[in-house]
Order: sequence, then structure tokens, then C-alpha cells
Amino acid sequence: MAGIRRVVLTGGTGLIGRALSQYLAERGVAEQRILTRNPKRQLLLPPGARLVPWRAEPDALAEVLQGVDAVVHMAGANVAQRRWTDAYKAEIYRSRVETGRALARALAAVPESQRPRVFVQMSAVGYYGDRGDAILTEDEPPGQDFLARLCVDWEAATQSVQDFGVRWIATRTGIVLSREGGALPLMARPMRWFVGGPLADGQFYIPWIHIMDQVRAMAFLMNHPEARGPFNLTAPEPVTNEVFIRTLARVLRRPAWFRVPRWALRLVLGEMADAMLASLRAVPKRLLDLGFTFRFPDLTSALQDLFAQG
Ligand SMILES: NC(=O)c1ccc[n+]([C@@H]2O[C@H](COP(=O)([O-])OP(=O)(O)OC[C@H]3O[C@@H](n4cnc5c(N)ncnc54)[C@H](OP(=O)(O)O)[C@@H]3O)[C@@H](O)[C@H]2O)c1
Repeated sequence: MAGIRRVVLTGGTGLIGRALSQYLAERGVAEQRILTRNPKRQLLLPPGARLVPWRAEPDALAEVLQGVDAVVHMAGANVAQRRWTDAYKAEIYRSRVETGRALARALAAVPESQRPRVFVQMSAVGYYGDRGDAILTEDEPPGQDFLARLCVDWEAATQSVQDFGVRWIATRTGIVLSREGGALPLMARPMRWFVGGPLADGQFYIPWIHIMDQVRAMAFLMNHPEARGPFNLTAPEPVTNEVFIRTLARVLRRPAWFRVPRWALRLVLGEMADAMLASLRAVPKRLLDLGFTFRFPDLTSALQDLFAQG
């Protein structure tokens, strides 16, 4: 990591955060301050990484942000873990947007010579809303649903760091494929039990990315001084849910007979079902233009790699 020796991560204890932290440590990042709500937890961290208590007061935060080269803001209440009650939606929002605002405010208090050079703001392809077959590059306008409005505010929360000369990047991330958590184990489980299948009509697009490419792309953007603004972090070949499920079934050597109707998903999941069935044919145009090469550009190779150990 050229010139990046010290970083601050929020959400560094999560699925993407743990993988990123490991990746950065392996590439010579010497110090990682991982802001967390629970610094006493027992967690195996890579060399140079330590947990630091999250405190939203500007002075306390400014102290943590001082003297690092990069900040990556990934924290946020999980959007797929619970039913979206009004209270949980408020938590999803607060945990991303208000924490982002607190970080941006605190950065203003860091002396210029001690400020990070780059700020990576996590975002999601949900930014674009449900868009059918339309190919979504970073130039497309945002959607109107809850996740789209969340992403707009989430990005806006930290954009002001640019006023202090900090390079700002928003990583509009697709569905991150990992064996450790997130969507993939939830999709694979019913299939292993012979009850897997497409959702609704299966014709909506899934913007997926292998976890290794996700952290490689984040590090690539941190390293490239010309990288600024929003980037779609998705594999170059988004596929429909039907294709995704059939490919997963082939890799797991299982049938995919069962189709879950839209009404059943809505009954069980409520509003979250609409987000799950949103069609997002996002492509990583700006990342490819910058010369990033995907290790797993197609779904079969990504799934074969992830399930190689059986
Ligand atoms: N995984 C995906 O497919 C995907 C796709 C697009 C975007 N994203 C976004 O990328 C970020 C990281 O994703 P992930 O899958 O790694 O998430 P994750 O495993 O759920 O981890 C999120 C982290 O956020 C912190 N957090 C959780 N609830 C919080 C709350 N109520 N208030 C403040 N902090 C809270 C936690 O850190 P502490 O417990 O240490 O405080 C946790 O480690 C999230 O913002 C997510 O929305 C993920």
C-alpha cells in the first residue's frame, strides 16, 4: 500500500471490515485503529490492528483520526438481519449517517498536517433503486426508496471532508459473496437441503462481487490518487436471480426446484422483501476505466472459489 501506513476503520469488525483489515495488514499497513461500540470483545485481529472505543464527541474522535493516512467508514446496523420496523429503519439510518457526520465534523478539528489523505465512504448499489434491465453506471441518478435515500444521505454525510483537501471516495457496493456471512450462506443453505430455487420471477438483476475483489478494489482506490467520487464495486457481469441460483445449484451439485413467490417473501420479510427483489444491473465502469482487474469477473469462478473446500 503505497504511502498508506496508518488507517482508521469503522465497521472493521464486520464481514467486509475483517477481510479488509486482514488484506491491509498483509500489504504492509502498520497500524489500524478499529472504531467499535464494543472494544472489550475477544476478536482475533491481524498484526497492527487494535480496537478503539467509538465516542462521537468531536474531540475524542479527532484524536483517533489524527495522524492516519486513510479512513474507511463501513459501520452500520445490518440491513438484512431484522424486520424493518420504523425503529429499526431509524437505527439503520442513524448508525450510518450520524456516525458519518460525526466523523466529518471531527476531521475538521484535526490539524491540517495531521489529516488523512483519503476517506473511503461505504455505500451500496441500492443507491440507484429498483431499475429493471437498465445498465447502471455511476452517472445514473439515485432512486426513491428507503435504501436509495439512505445511500444518498450516507454519502452526503461525509462528502464535506473534501473541503479540507481530503480525497473522498464512495464505494457503491453490490452483494458481497463470502462463506463467512452476508447473503451467500443464506442462499446456499436451502439449496443444500434440496429446497433452493429462484425468488419471484427470478428476472431481477443481482449486482454481486467476490469478497476478495471487494477488498482488493477498496485498497486499489485508496492507493490511486486520481480515484475520487463514487465507484460501483460490483463484478462486471451482473446476472439475474434465476441465473445466479442456477449457477449456485450447479456449483453445489444440488437441484433448484423451489420457487419462492413474491407474496410469500413480502409476508415473511415485509418491506425488506422489496429491497431483496430490486433489480440492480450495476456495472463497475469507473473502476474498470481506472485499470482495476477483477480476480473473479464471472459468477462461476467466484462460486467455485468460495465453495472449493466443500
Ligand atoms: N455485505 C454486503 O453484501 C454489503 C453490500 C453493500 C453494502 N454493504 C455495507 O457495508 C458495510 C459493511 O458491511 P458488512 O457486511 O461488513 O456489515 P456487518 O458484518 O453487519 O458489520 C457492520 C459493522 O457495523 C457496526 N455496527 C453494527 N450495528 C451498528 C450500530 N447499530 N451502530 C453503529 N455501528 C454498528 C459493527 O461494528 P461494531 O460492532 O464493532 O461496532 C459491525 O461490525 C455496511 O454498512 C453495509 O451496509 C454491505
